[in-house]
Amino acid sequence: MKSLALESLSKTYFDPYRGTQFTAIKDVSLNVEEGDFVAVVGPSGCGKSTILNMIAGFVPATGGRILVGGREVSGPGRDRGVVFQSFALFPWKTVIENVAFGPKMRGIGKAERNRIAQEYLELAGLGHAADRYPNELSGGMQQRVGVVRALANEPDVLLMDEPFASVDAQTRMTLQEELTRIWEERRPTVVFITHDVPEAVFLANRVVVLTRGNVLAEVDIPLARPRVWDSLVEDDEFKSLSNQVLQLVRSA
Ligand SMILES: Nc1ncnc2c1ncn2[C@@H]1O[C@H](COP(=O)(O)OP(=O)(O)OP(=O)(O)O)[C@@H](O)[C@H]1O
Ligand SMILES: [Mg+2]
Repeated sequence: MKSLALESLSKTYFDPYRGTQFTAIKDVSLNVEEGDFVAVVGPSGCGKSTILNMIAGFVPATGGRILVGGREVSGPGRDRGVVFQSFALFPWKTVIENVAFGPKMRGIGKAERNRIAQEYLELAGLGHAADRYPNELSGGMQQRVGVVRALANEPDVLLMDEPFASVDAQTRMTLQEELTRIWEERRPTVVFITHDVPEAVFLANRVVVLTRGNVLAEVDIPLARPRVWDSLVEDDEFKSLSNQVLQLVRSA
């Protein structure tokens, strides 16, 4: 695990055909300590995915810089694992082969990579599905495999862009509890993008509210862990923090 720092990060998109430009991110600075969990929330179009894609190295910044463990990033790398809302598992590979693919690419031998993959699958309650194919799984299970696949690469920083947005509310809460449990056990450094405020408050140690390309506010979430919905859903502190963040997002 490593720390992540954004220093005066900016992104202006240029449209060479129309000759227009649009500044999606302006001067954003953010520090995420090693082993911390930060959620970024904000209205649609405020620049959440742009920030994540810059950290992932998919989109080049037009100003400022990004440091992972103190080293500037200039493109995609295995030190950063990414989970999107929609992503493809390899349909011709079994679940465990999908998860073991990253370790395989890192040159880890078969027995060891299968051991790593199985361990992460167990951690996410998917041990029993190791030998199934993706099309034999529900949407929620596929999403879980996507998260497990990113974790099995043991990235320094885990980047997630609305990974649970396309599953039903019930499954979503289960996935949130699972991710929390895995984070509590393994303590990866996580940046989690969502427009779902209760999700951000439930998962994170800190919620960053983004508005039109700027950081409007950062809210610490000192809720005790382990966190489970059964006890938090009626918790006054949880409700008041969620309201506080919601007000900020609405004012954005
Ligand atoms: N490739 C691009 N070229 C031009 N403008 C872009 C490009 N990608 C994003 N934008 C613009 O940048 C702004 C931020 O987009 P971004 O996708 O980062 O928002 P978001 O916060 O992730 O939104 P959502 O919640 O809907 O996913 C938007 O106004 C969008 O239209
Ligand atoms: Mg987005």
